[in-house]
Amino acid sequence: MPARFPKGPHRTRRTSSVDQLVGRLVTLRPASEADADAFRELLAHPGVARWWGDPDDQLSEVLAPPADVSSFAIVLDDVTVGLIQCSEEPTAEYRHATIDIAVHPDWHGRGVGSDAIATLAKHLIQDRGHHRLTIDPAADNEVAIRVYRRLGFRPVGILHQYERGADGTWHDGLLMELLADELPMLSAPHSHPAPPRADNSEGPGGRG
Ligand SMILES: CC(C)(COP(=O)(O)OP(=O)(O)OC[C@H]1O[C@@H](n2cnc3c(N)ncnc32)[C@H](O)[C@@H]1OP(=O)(O)O)[C@@H](O)C(=O)NCCC(=O)NCCS
Repeated sequence: MPARFPKGPHRTRRTSSVDQLVGRLVTLRPASEADADAFRELLAHPGVARWWGDPDDQLSEVLAPPADVSSFAIVLDDVTVGLIQCSEEPTAEYRHATIDIAVHPDWHGRGVGSDAIATLAKHLIQDRGHHRLTIDPAADNEVAIRVYRRLGFRPVGILHQYERGADGTWHDGLLMELLADELPMLSAPHSHPAPPRADNSEGPGGRG
């Protein structure tokens, strides 16, 4: 969830210094105030707010992200249909990047989310030099987990009582990771599943 991104003084946002990232289907453009209305509608949609939390808090964070976080509008045919963020860990010994995404439900199921993640992941690995990417959906966000799995992210384990929901209770998350040297999206269509890995690759519901 975006709320876990570190809060702090705003510094130069390194990743969003790119003009745009062009995918097979969508373009990722650094988020700006021009996206505010589209993001407000997106974040207020019940199908997104369920997973992203308070729309007003999230809108503020997306438009003015903390240091090391970059926000992009997902653009399809000149329309902002979603947002995607990445957070880059600045500590050299633990360098990696984390991705979060929301696509407006009117555009679900068209490959927008998959292409946006693949495009940002490719940028983080090829241009930003990351060797490891993570993503941490709610453990019961089955749609997101299925999409991430198809892209090559593997479940690492359950993050117990990881995030507090709108109902005030703590919910589990699922930590998933993708290593640069096993990135299927660079060489194969997005729909190709990654080959099985003989390690701790349990699915949601397992213990980390
Ligand atoms: C998770 C999320 C980003 C996926 O976005 P999306 O644009 O719907 O993703 P895709 O279209 O790439 O994939 C979704 C499904 O559409 C299918 N699909 C992909 N390309 C397609 C195409 N061209 N035509 C039809 N279906 C397609 C995928 O196979 C997938 O099917 P599945 O449900 O069997 O897994 C989106 O559901 C979302 O924003 N949800 C709300 C917020 C959220 O949960 N964010 C994640 C927090 S960690």
